[in-house]
Amino acid sequence: MYQAPRGTSDILPEEQAYWRFVEQKVTSICQLYGYERLDSPVFEDTGLFARSVGPGTDVVEKEMYTFTDKGGNQLTLRPEGTAPVCRAYLEHGMPNLPRPVKLYYYFIPVFRYERPQAGRYRQHYQFGFEAIGEDDPALDAEVIDMAWQFFLSLGLHHLSLQLNSIGCRQCRPIYLNALKNHYASHATELCTDCKVRLERNPLRLLDCKKSSCQAVADSAPRSTDYLCSECRVHFSRLKEYLKLLKIPFTLNHRLVRGLDYYTRTVFEIQPRDAGAQSTLGGGGRYDDLIEELGGKPTPAIGLAAGIERMVLNLKKQAVAVPPFPRPQVFIAHLGNEAKDEAIKLASRLRQASTSIIMATGQRSLKAQLRQANTSAIRHAVIIGEQEVKSGTVVLRDMTNARQKTVNPAALPGLLG
Ligand code: HAM
Repeated sequence: MYQAPRGTSDILPEEQAYWRFVEQKVTSICQLYGYERLDSPVFEDTGLFARSVGPGTDVVEKEMYTFTDKGGNQLTLRPEGTAPVCRAYLEHGMPNLPRPVKLYYYFIPVFRYERPQAGRYRQHYQFGFEAIGEDDPALDAEVIDMAWQFFLSLGLHHLSLQLNSIGCRQCRPIYLNALKNHYASHATELCTDCKVRLERNPLRLLDCKKSSCQAVADSAPRSTDYLCSECRVHFSRLKEYLKLLKIPFTLNHRLVRGLDYYTRTVFEIQPRDAGAQSTLGGGGRYDDLIEELGGKPTPAIGLAAGIERMVLNLKKQAVAVPPFPRPQVFIAHLGNEAKDEAIKLASRLRQASTSIIMATGQRSLKAQLRQANTSAIRHAVIIGEQEVKSGTVVLRDMTNARQKTVNPAALPGLLG
């Protein structure tokens, strides 16, 4: 017996009401904030991710599903959604559109070879949105507001918004230097991975979850103390806008995000009192990425959120989601002629938009009605020899077992 590969899962019919609920909320929030949908391929050139996510990140170093296809192309299953959107933005001439260009993606499978645990999978699904071509902190506030309102619209509560600014190309190197000096003076306390990070990608040191490294991170210099004047003004305006919007935030000096393309604003939304594995969504500015990928300098900002984590939290917080609609009618029949009539009736009713389950096989009437009951279908239509002769059907209300003989043409009006 085969099983789904480790770190992947099936989204079973009983789960679908949650996924559909999230999808409806995604569609309406994106429409409300003026975003258009963009779908990109599941795989891209490996270079796109290596270059944008960054060579010293866990995603690129340890987690990418990379393969060579039969044509010898180096490809990677999408480990995130931002780089493909930027690639598409450049490839399809979108820099000529009015700015910011606002794009969203939904239900994209994302692949990362991680150690699976609750809320962390090797294939997960994301919703995300990107606003490209504007560096106004009012746009940062709008993106954060959109994320915040989205999670609230799901009915989730007790959320916390973590916020930080990690500066730009001008001020970041000075900060990184200070960070390196701090960590170098604690080198003996660091885990093996962090010793490598210290040399290769010091910002990632602040991401480490090992307890010995956390103590060093707690006393590390803060990026916000090293911002250049433009970044400082940008960050303080953003904070003012968030206050204006009454969105509560917590400054988190250790928030750097796991991907290298970020500049200035970074943020995450988490259920309060929960660890990093439960982060619902995260994002930030990536003002250099489009240029890195061959475009003109183009500031941008966005967010992505994991659907599985939303569903986990909807269940945990006992949010009631609208049930998936059940079929309206079960058609039961007895005898070959009745079966012919049932097949024709099912087809006619479906064409009139009535959802139908028709009994198949050779089961007794009792067994057929038992199926209607277990499937929680409100009405059963029964056709036997007598009904074939008289051109009628029996309509049975499964909730109270009341039934009456009716003309099949009258059914759509009787089913309600
Ligand atoms: P990310 O934080 O790597 O950001 O992923 C976004 C969200 O995807 C996370 O907050 C989490 O909810 C979910 N997620 C990530 N990894 C897993 C996993 N292994 N299993 C389940 N859920 C997971 C990005 O990917 C950026 N592209 C976000 C962004 C958009 N930044 C700017 N624009």
